[in-house]
Amino acid sequence: MAKLKIRIYPDPALAQETAPHTTFGPADQQLFDDMIETMYASDGVGLAAPQAGILKRIFVCCPSMKRGEEFVMVNPRIESSSGEAVDAEGCLSLPGISADITRATTLELTYQNRYGNLCRTTAKDFFARVIQHEMDHLNGNLLIDHFSGRKREELLKQYDLAKAAEKTGKPRT
Ligand code: NI
Repeated sequence: MAKLKIRIYPDPALAQETAPHTTFGPADQQLFDDMIETMYASDGVGLAAPQAGILKRIFVCCPSMKRGEEFVMVNPRIESSSGEAVDAEGCLSLPGISADITRATTLELTYQNRYGNLCRTTAKDFFARVIQHEMDHLNGNLLIDHFSGRKREELLKQYDLAKAAEKTGKPRT
């Protein structure tokens, strides 16, 4: 298994629409495994294909954060959603920042699993939040795209500062 390179903002791959994924052969199984491995190695709870520069409708997630309980979701579709909650979210493609995002609390979702079988599931709370975050990636959106004007500028400034601190290796304060 190989660890994939995670693209970070403003990499153009993160801002593009993605295409349906239609193959489920050995090379695809390898890709799904690599995405899972990369997610765990980065301490993430989700990773979408565009974050690895692959413009396909695929993401992996593990809301329980327990190895072996991860999901591979291909061509996911939210059939219905309800409820609303605000909570802080971070993103592996925006290291160093987090922001409060409003999300639905319950989703009815269809997707194909890693073998191409059509699945239907109900996701609630944190699981629903993770799925909505990853679906945003498949549509070329990041958490900063939930904001405009001054709030967005503030987040981008924080992001630049975090990136600069990373480069100099100085501890963050
Ligand atoms: Ni993300």
